[in-house]
Amino acid sequence: MGPGWIAERFTESLQAHTRQVIAAVGSRSLSRSKSFAEAYNIPAAYGSYEELAAAPDVDIIYVCTPHTGHHAAAVLAIDAGKHVLIEKPLGLDADQARDIAERSEAAGVFAAEAMWTFFLPKFDVIRQILDAGTLGTITTVVAEYGEHFDPTHRIFDPQLAGGPLLDLGTYPLALITEVLGSPRRLHALGQPHESGVNAQLSAVMQFDDGAQAVVNAHLHNFTPTAATIVGSQATLVIEGPFNMPGAFEVRFPDGRRLRHEEPSGGHYEGLHFEAAAVARAVAAGKMQLSQRTLAASIRTLEVADEIRRQLGVVFPNPKTPTFEGKI
Ligand SMILES: NC(=O)c1ccc[n+]([C@@H]2O[C@H](COP(=O)([O-])OP(=O)(O)OC[C@H]3O[C@@H](n4cnc5c(N)ncnc54)[C@H](OP(=O)(O)O)[C@@H]3O)[C@@H](O)[C@H]2O)c1
Repeated sequence: MGPGWIAERFTESLQAHTRQVIAAVGSRSLSRSKSFAEAYNIPAAYGSYEELAAAPDVDIIYVCTPHTGHHAAAVLAIDAGKHVLIEKPLGLDADQARDIAERSEAAGVFAAEAMWTFFLPKFDVIRQILDAGTLGTITTVVAEYGEHFDPTHRIFDPQLAGGPLLDLGTYPLALITEVLGSPRRLHALGQPHESGVNAQLSAVMQFDDGAQAVVNAHLHNFTPTAATIVGSQATLVIEGPFNMPGAFEVRFPDGRRLRHEEPSGGHYEGLHFEAAAVARAVAAGKMQLSQRTLAASIRTLEVADEIRRQLGVVFPNPKTPTFEGKI
């Protein structure tokens, strides 16, 4: 639902690495959905999201509209009794995310945020290392994500909730809140962009046990997109881009290093792990993903909301999301 850039990557990765079938595509324009269907050999193409939601023989809908459309698209799918996988972030704000969680639970359908990083093989290992307490008491998480975009990219459009927070910042914020929970205190600084969106944000957080986290996200240029988790016994360094397939190390103060190797790569090499986890969960009758619960997605958005509040970043009509916009 919303065949744009990430829909292409998702389809390519699924078709190359899984036996899952993209059964139909829904666009706001029939010609766009037909050309997507033709490019990827998809049997059905619909000219509206409503028609896709009502389509027969569809188990689950993948919502990949801009952020501003996630809630409305998810509600369409849920109301039609379809399971739903929603691109990150789950909603424009925590209120929308909570509403999606309540509606999917009431309807008895599966719902999840497509935070694909958490389904990569390395994250399974990282989770086991964290659970085993190998790092000792975690004191600090530092994570950042900067990227260069063409000036025509939707990230510069205030009407589409542009700026680095929801496209890029969601990754470091998801990691920080996954490791440390919800911050007790947060201080944010921002830099505006001439297009009217936020250009750069930095925030420092403190947690109940005294741990701290630092996040930076911007749309000025590429950064290593590195993440570091520091504990009293060892430091975990995830090589950048930390949100994509690749290696990481556990480094001990005496110089010892444990290294996890996996082929580094991008969306093509990584998105299918998320799709497989979703398929396994749905097949097992689960309503959520254990690797990324709806509560965890809501918690990340609560932090994003607080950063926006402090920076004075206001999104367009967050209470009345629509698909209106440039076609
Ligand atoms: N997991 C990842 O690594 C990753 C990477 C990039 C993006 N994303 C997420 O995926 C979502 C989509 O990003 P994208 O880069 O794929 O965006 P995109 O290329 O602009 O595609 C979004 C699609 O949504 C539809 N749409 C619905 N309402 C729209 C509106 N008002 N304006 C423009 N398009 C609208 C359009 O398709 P039709 O009009 O044909 O329906 C459009 O092609 C974002 O929420 C983003 O956070 C995730």
